Amino acid sequence: MIVLSTWNFGLPANKVAWQIVANNGTALDAVEHGVRHAEADPEVRSVGYGGMPDKDGIVTLDACIMDHYGNCGSVAYVKDIKHPVTLARRVMERTDHIMLVGEGASKFAESQGIMRDYLLTDDARTRWKKWKKTQDFQQVNWENHDTIGMIAMDGAGLFAGACTTSGLAWKMHGRVGDSPIIGSGLFVDGSVGAAVATGHGESIMKMCGSFLVVELMRNGATPMEACKAAARRIASTQPDWKKNQAGFLAMDIHGNVGGFSLRNGFQYAHSENGVHTLIDSEHLLPKEEHEVQST
Ligand code: GLY
Repeated sequence: MIVLSTWNFGLPANKVAWQIVANNGTALDAVEHGVRHAEADPEVRSVGYGGMPDKDGIVTLDACIMDHYGNCGSVAYVKDIKHPVTLARRVMERTDHIMLVGEGASKFAESQGIMRDYLLTDDARTRWKKWKKTQDFQQVNWENHDTIGMIAMDGAGLFAGACTTSGLAWKMHGRVGDSPIIGSGLFVDGSVGAAVATGHGESIMKMCGSFLVVELMRNGATPMEACKAAARRIASTQPDWKKNQAGFLAMDIHGNVGGFSLRNGFQYAHSENGVHTLIDSEHLLPKEEHEVQST
């Protein structure tokens, strides 16, 4: 049993997920309930309730979930549902579709007995008003943290993954990033393993990041090699890569894990044998260069 998730808020989320797999629960339940922890926490300003709004002051959430067998569900541009990951799971399990967006997703939530919520917290509104005065574009990056992506293997050796975010702070209204896009923010193939991505969604979407990582593992790469290769793919194809952060996590069927990012600062939570560890990811851009760039 292994649980991996992105950023330091992955640590408490992993603990929730671990309780589930350690008690013979499924990886699917573990990742859903693990990331719900971050969605519910208003201190996590890039996921769920408490997430930063778009440039018009509206919080819109994106999430997806995928199981061992390739079943998946996704929601995007959801304005009023506190746990989009659970809604994504309902799409997966109770519709013939994979992705629902906006008002259609919210109406489906209502049909499932999921209540609408108001997502903009006082803190988020205050930060948005301050931003409005200066209108400095702020990327989802190493200071703001980002998406929670979680992948898990349960006691039966089954994989699942989930990914949920409020996306880029101050994004254009209607913008959707990598997180709800199967193959970009998340990909699971039970015969190979699983991968999840975090960071600048546009950078990840351009190269189908999570799908690439899983396919590299299918072709023999270790999870670490695959995550590194994905970061290198961004660097070799996107001239402005040094301005952006992106990170990848992966796990294979042998229980090997890896994590790698473009820039310094990406951390991920690793849970195995009941031990929960926060790991500083290796990264592509040398730290010295990162420090120069940040000033
Ligand atoms: N990775 C989250 C986003 O770009 O929306």
